[in-house]
Amino acid sequence: MTMELIPHFIDGKEIESKDDGRFDNVDPWTREVRTQVALGGAEEAALAVSAARDAFDSGAWPRMGFTERGRILHRLADLMDQHTYELAMADTQDMGKPISDSSSKDVPRSALNFRFFADHARMSAAETLPMDSGHHAYTRFESAGVVAAIAPWNFPLMLETWKIAPALAWGNTVVLKPAEDTPSSATILARLALEAGMPPGVLNVVHGFGPDSVGEALTTDARVDRITFTGESTTGRVIGRAAAGNLTPVSLELGGKGANIVFADADLESAVQWSIKAIFNNAGQVCLAGSRLFVERGIYDEFLRRFCEAADALIIGDPKDPSTQLGPLATEEHYTKVRSFVDGVEADGGTTMIGGLGEGWVVRPTVVTDAPATARVCREEIFGPVVVVTPFDSEAEAVDRANDTPFGLNAMVFTQNLSRAHRVSSLLRAGTVWVNCFFVRDLRAPFGGFGDSGVGREGGNFSREFFTEPKAVVMEIDS
Ligand code: NAI
Ligand code: MG
Repeated sequence: MTMELIPHFIDGKEIESKDDGRFDNVDPWTREVRTQVALGGAEEAALAVSAARDAFDSGAWPRMGFTERGRILHRLADLMDQHTYELAMADTQDMGKPISDSSSKDVPRSALNFRFFADHARMSAAETLPMDSGHHAYTRFESAGVVAAIAPWNFPLMLETWKIAPALAWGNTVVLKPAEDTPSSATILARLALEAGMPPGVLNVVHGFGPDSVGEALTTDARVDRITFTGESTTGRVIGRAAAGNLTPVSLELGGKGANIVFADADLESAVQWSIKAIFNNAGQVCLAGSRLFVERGIYDEFLRRFCEAADALIIGDPKDPSTQLGPLATEEHYTKVRSFVDGVEADGGTTMIGGLGEGWVVRPTVVTDAPATARVCREEIFGPVVVVTPFDSEAEAVDRANDTPFGLNAMVFTQNLSRAHRVSSLLRAGTVWVNCFFVRDLRAPFGGFGDSGVGREGGNFSREFFTEPKAVVMEIDS
C-alpha cells in the first residue's frame, strides 16, 4: 500500500526531500500510521529560506501595498472557511484534538487571524512628532524580511496563523516549520494561500524535527530576519542562543503553570465551569492551562465536589466523534511524560481524587489535592489534564502562592468584588490575567509571558513592532 506523503511547500511547489527522507505521522487515537511526511534537513531549510529571501528581495510582496495584500489575506481566510472541515480534521487526526473544538474554535480563529492582521496593518497609524527646532520626525514601519516561524503541536493551525498572519500582513515572507507531530493543516494552508493569489515563495512550509534537523537549520541561517517560536521553555533557550549568533530578533512564547484563584465571593457555578475549561480543554495541552487551582477555604469542599463532578462528566472518546470533549494525548512520548506525573502523585505527597490513566494514550481528567508546593505536579508544566487543587485563607496568601513559579504566562481570578479583582490582577506576575473568564482574546492585546514563559509580546501593535523595522525619518521644515 502506498501511503499519502505530506510534501514540503517551497516557492509555490510541493516537493519531497532531496534524499527522499520521510517520517511517519501517527494518529494518536488509532495509534496507527496515517500518512508519511517529507523529512527535511539543512538542505530543505536553505532552499525554503532562499525562496522566501528571493520573494522578499524582489520587492513584489513588501511593496504590494496594504490593500492588495489584505485582499489576498482575506481571500485566504474565505478559503479557510470553505475548507473548515478538512483543516479541522487534519489537526484532529494529527494530534487528537476533539473535532468539535478544531472545527468551531481553531479553524475559525485561524481565519480570523488573517482577517484581523490584514485590517490592522492597513489601518495602522504612526506618530508624527513636531519638534521645537523646526523639524518633524515620523515613524515608518518597514517589513523586516524573512520570518522563520517554528510552531508547536497543541494548536497547530491556530498558533501557526497567529505568527504567519501578522508577518505576511506587514510584508514579510515566511518559512513555517510546523511541529513534526502536526504537519497536515500547514500544507493545506499553503495550498490555499497559493489559490488565494499569494505569490510563490511568500509562504513556504518545511517539515521535520528541531535539533540537528530543519528547525535548527532555520534558526542558524543568517538570511533569516526574525524568528518566532512557541513551545517548551528549554527549546526557547536553545533557539534564543542560536538566534544570538546572527543577532536575529526572537519572539518566544513558552510554557506556563497558570494559577487559577477562586475567592469565596465568586459566582460558584460559573467559576467551576470556567475552571473545567481552563484545565481540561484540549486535554490540558495548553500553555495557558489553569493547572494550579487555589480555592478559598470557605468554599473549598463545595467547589471541589462540584468541580470533580463536572470533570467526571466530560465525554472521553474518539476525537473524530462530534460529542467527544476529551481525546487522547498527542503522542506516545507526551503520554509517557504526563503519565509519569500521574504515577508520581502519591510519592510526592499528593492524593488523586479522580482520574488516572485511560485507554491507549488517554489520561482521564485528573484532580490532585494535598500536594505540597514543592511537589513536581505543582512546579513543572505537565501539559495534560492534571490539576492540583489547594485551599488558601487570605488574598495575600493566594497571590504569593500564584506567583511562586518561574513561569508567568497567565492567571485567572474569580471574584465578585471589583476592588479585589483589580488589586489582585495588578499583583499577579503574568502576561494575561482573566477575571471571571478564561481564554477570551482581543487580538489587539499583548500576548506573552513574564519569566520563563517567554520573551516579547505579540498581538496588534506588539506584532507590528516585532515583524517590522521601525524607522525614524527626521525632516527639516523651515530651511
Ligand atoms: P518543543 O519545544 O520541543 O517543540 C516545539 C517546536 O520546536 C517543534 O516544531 C520542534 O520541532 C521545534 N524545535 C525543537 N527543538 C528545536 C531546535 N533546537 N531548533 C529549532 N526548532 C526546534 O516541544 P515538544 O517536544 O513538541 O513538546 C515538549 C513539551 O513542551 C510538551 O510536553 C509540553 O510540556 C511543552 N510544550 C509547550 C507548548 C506551549 O505552548 N507552551 C507547546 C508545545 C509543547
Ligand atoms: Mg521536543
